[in-house]
Amino acid sequence: MKDVLERIAAVVGSAGLVTDETGMAPHMKDWRGRYSGRPLAVVRPASTRAVAEVVKICAETRTAIVPQGGNTGLQGGGITDASGTQILLSTGRMNRVRAVDALNNTITVEAGCVLEHVQRAAEDAGRLFPLSLGAEGSATLGGNLSTNAGGTGVLRYGNTRDLALGLEVVLASGEVWDGLRGLRKDNTGYDLKHLFIGAEGTLGVITAAVMKLYPLPAARLTAIAAVGSPHDALRLLSIAQRQSGDALTGFEMISDFCITLLVKHFPATRTPFDARHPQYVLMEISDARSEASARAAIESILAEGMEAGIARDAVVAQSLSQVNAMWAMREDITEAQRLEGLNVKHDVSVPISRIAEFMDATEAALRRAYPDVRLVVFGHLGDGNLHYNVCGPQGVAPEVFLREEAGVTRIVHDSVARFNGSISAEHGLGQLRREEIRRYKSALELDLMRKLKAALDPLGIMNPGKVL
Ligand code: FAD
Ligand code: MLT
Ligand code: ZN
Repeated sequence: MKDVLERIAAVVGSAGLVTDETGMAPHMKDWRGRYSGRPLAVVRPASTRAVAEVVKICAETRTAIVPQGGNTGLQGGGITDASGTQILLSTGRMNRVRAVDALNNTITVEAGCVLEHVQRAAEDAGRLFPLSLGAEGSATLGGNLSTNAGGTGVLRYGNTRDLALGLEVVLASGEVWDGLRGLRKDNTGYDLKHLFIGAEGTLGVITAAVMKLYPLPAARLTAIAAVGSPHDALRLLSIAQRQSGDALTGFEMISDFCITLLVKHFPATRTPFDARHPQYVLMEISDARSEASARAAIESILAEGMEAGIARDAVVAQSLSQVNAMWAMREDITEAQRLEGLNVKHDVSVPISRIAEFMDATEAALRRAYPDVRLVVFGHLGDGNLHYNVCGPQGVAPEVFLREEAGVTRIVHDSVARFNGSISAEHGLGQLRREEIRRYKSALELDLMRKLKAALDPLGIMNPGKVL
């Protein structure tokens, strides 16, 4: 092992090799504090060439590599095991924007670049990079690609996979695949980039990518509407899509218990309305013309919703600070849950048309087994993706309720399966869902996945114990 570290140190230098406890600590635990590991070392290469050299050394010595970007993943995918034999490859020093081609509407970025920096670089060039999520101040583009992250703009712009045009990847052999092409059309055989997107570091290390950009909208405006049920939230979605089409760039749903958690943990939170309601919808309109046009569009959607008795109350942001406050309310839910203590977390999707029915059926099934659970349900209604999280009854400590995790998850995921859904919509499998997926994916699909893994990583050194 000493020999491996000496060889790696010769490639990355002292700035690129961390072995002391304090330096390794931020990389050893996941964001929720659910998983912890002990790496042999944290290796921080500063270039694709250095990543390739490190991977070659690891292949020769059969040393496992766990890639890590911003360490905001929620499935334990970027955490090593506890053996002290795996190296944690952090992409933090590979954070350059290599090029922006405004006419081609593309940006070429290194994997360790923080998502917010990619957004800013696009904006500086008068363009929009539309991937947006609560962890964007720390999550990296490499992590986004490797988890095929979703976020709040998917209903208009698609998930990370849809935004990627080309990749540069260090393969498990240490060879570099340069697929950094910025083409909208390229039908020259298998589209290899899609193997690495969503692979959670199990097939290679993504070192850079060419991503799509869009025109910057002239205005982005948000509103919050109160509705009586998820069925009404869906009706409002239908009105918003009919009226505004592609201008509808966000449609999130927040259940009332999320507001209770926000108020508890962020006392400065202002509830959207004086009265409380079962569900709230946060919608965003992006308008190519003007703020006045965005305002007219959002007011027209809400007016129809109110007239039809679907929206019980509604408020349109009057200023940028109100827009930001509305989004903060949505995005702080994850942190509020962390402060409350671990709950039983799920990240599920079902066809959008069936999401309300799914919620009714799942809640009924859950309450038969666990009558007093509290549901922290919120998410990307416009994508059919819910974070269907379950807290124990009032007064039961989170760590005590967590003993019921397997039973709770079985009920939720079996319900997802009955609705032809997915047990991981946007967070990936990591460690958390690695066993679980065997119940829901066909033997044929799992076999194909294992064959791909064996073909691309025959020595099994890339992020072992994750996904498969
Ligand atoms: P990490 O956590 O470091 O790693 C994630 C996985 O990718 C690991 O398996 C790791 O091994 C692998 N990996 C990382 N970099 C590379 C690379 N260069 N090459 C190969 N493999 C690599 N996710 C959503 O989809 N939508 C959301 O709305 C959303 N909101 C969030 C809000 C909060 C507050 C938090 C904490 C998380 C949220 N997430 C969300 C989850 C998380 O932010 C995303 O999964 C994000 O894409 C992870 O990026 P990262 O750089 O932190 O990756
Ligand atoms: C979100 O949509 O806020 C995230 O995916 C994070 C979470 O599930 O808590
Ligand atoms: Zn989400």
